[in-house]
Amino acid sequence: MRGWARFFFFEACAWELLAFRARVRFKRNPLFNSFMELCIIGSGYVGLVSGACFAEVGHHVVCVDNDQRKVDMLQRGEIPIYEPGLEELVQRNVAAKRLRFTNSIAEGVDHGQIVFIAVPTPPQADGSVDLTYIERVAREIAGVLKPGQYRVVVDKSTVPVKTGEKVEATIRRYNHSAELDVVSNPEFLREGCAVPDLMHPDRIVIGSSSQRATDLMKRVYEPFQAPILVTDVNSAELIKHAANSFLSLKISYINAVSAICEASGADVEMVADGIGMDKRIGRNFLNAGLGYGGSCFPKDVKAFIAIAEELGVPFHLLKEVERINISQMERFLKKVREALWVLRDKRVAVWGLSFKPDTDDVRNSVAIELINKLAAEGALVTAYDPKGMGKALEYKLLAPTVRLASSPVEAVAGAEALLLATEWKEFACQDFAAVKAAMHTPLLFDGRNLLNPGTMRGMGFVYYGVGRP
Ligand code: UGA
Repeated sequence: MRGWARFFFFEACAWELLAFRARVRFKRNPLFNSFMELCIIGSGYVGLVSGACFAEVGHHVVCVDNDQRKVDMLQRGEIPIYEPGLEELVQRNVAAKRLRFTNSIAEGVDHGQIVFIAVPTPPQADGSVDLTYIERVAREIAGVLKPGQYRVVVDKSTVPVKTGEKVEATIRRYNHSAELDVVSNPEFLREGCAVPDLMHPDRIVIGSSSQRATDLMKRVYEPFQAPILVTDVNSAELIKHAANSFLSLKISYINAVSAICEASGADVEMVADGIGMDKRIGRNFLNAGLGYGGSCFPKDVKAFIAIAEELGVPFHLLKEVERINISQMERFLKKVREALWVLRDKRVAVWGLSFKPDTDDVRNSVAIELINKLAAEGALVTAYDPKGMGKALEYKLLAPTVRLASSPVEAVAGAEALLLATEWKEFACQDFAAVKAAMHTPLLFDGRNLLNPGTMRGMGFVYYGVGRP
């Protein structure tokens, strides 16, 4: 087996081993020799991956989704998203009858002593969080809870602080005899590595004011053998927004440093290595590039700003984090304009559409924003992405003049510049002699610092990175 194939093979084996060990631990532990019955409402990224991983360690899980088409697909073992390792996990656990899907909230709530809410919490125009779906689910749970049926209702979606209080009040308002506790249990998985993140979390946060609910939650997570932090509900809710905002801040910090590197001739990669070797700082999330995107960071930073504002404690630091994120793209485009002079009618190839590698998620993708800005200035863009093209077409996210290619090399045919916008490993392994030969002029703008500048220049490319000489 060669290079990447061997890497993926061993990675798959490692996951399998982790899951196996978790199952064995679960079965051997005398305190936890019985599985738990769980319900998860919402089969998006968080709900689906959580459901599959809970089933993998032995729990019996019913996932509820109001989209019947999605329910049918999932029940057949077909996955609506690309997430490494997820398809096998779902298929294995559906076959083992530990995981099933339904559109009936009554069936789910009847099955699960613990009911997880994992529905979307999209942003509103002013940046605050739209809690319509959470509120609706709370009312629906109230409508199906039977008298004497104790349930732990767990908020897994990313929600503003104090949402738990409102969920509990809503359920009690619509069902006076409801026996329940509401818990906050934020999820920290990343798209593209959601399965290993969930199987092997850094920490589990349980926000609860009830010992009974806390004990049940600990049983759910016992097989994962991760550190558990028990807090009050409000603190758990805040932890999620504070964590995502801090990671965004780290990215904006290094991006701001990258601008100083460009002005001074220093190399941001070396600076990041140098500061990241300090254990108090750490090297993760110090990769300079085109800025953060996706369905979490942009939304959560905005939401945290709005939450702080509403509580009367404006968070100016986070406004600067957002400003730096926007200016990073502008600085990159400026370099492209300076090199090509006029963009109108220039053939430009872009590698990358997804908001990050190993996912087909194109929501709030910086790559797509870049492409559309180029197209708006009249550039003739041809793009390629290993997984994101289907969804970009389905959601009609690209300007009408943008063409899609079937391979990285096809995308660069006749191009006057190549822009790398998402750091897929596939892009680093290209035959760059063939890439250069296919291009009209070998201008290479590496928006994610994926490639080695010396190697690329040695091959005859005019290489531009982010914050690198
Ligand atoms: C993020 C968090 O990392 C998860 O812990 C959290 O659970 C999730 O949001 C969520 O709230 O659901 P995710 O959005 O999947 O996960 O992706 P990340 O890997 O965090 O990347 C976010 C963005 O930051 C991407 O656009 C990525 O390209 C960018 N990034 C990341 C950088 O520009 N530089 C870095 O060094 C790291």
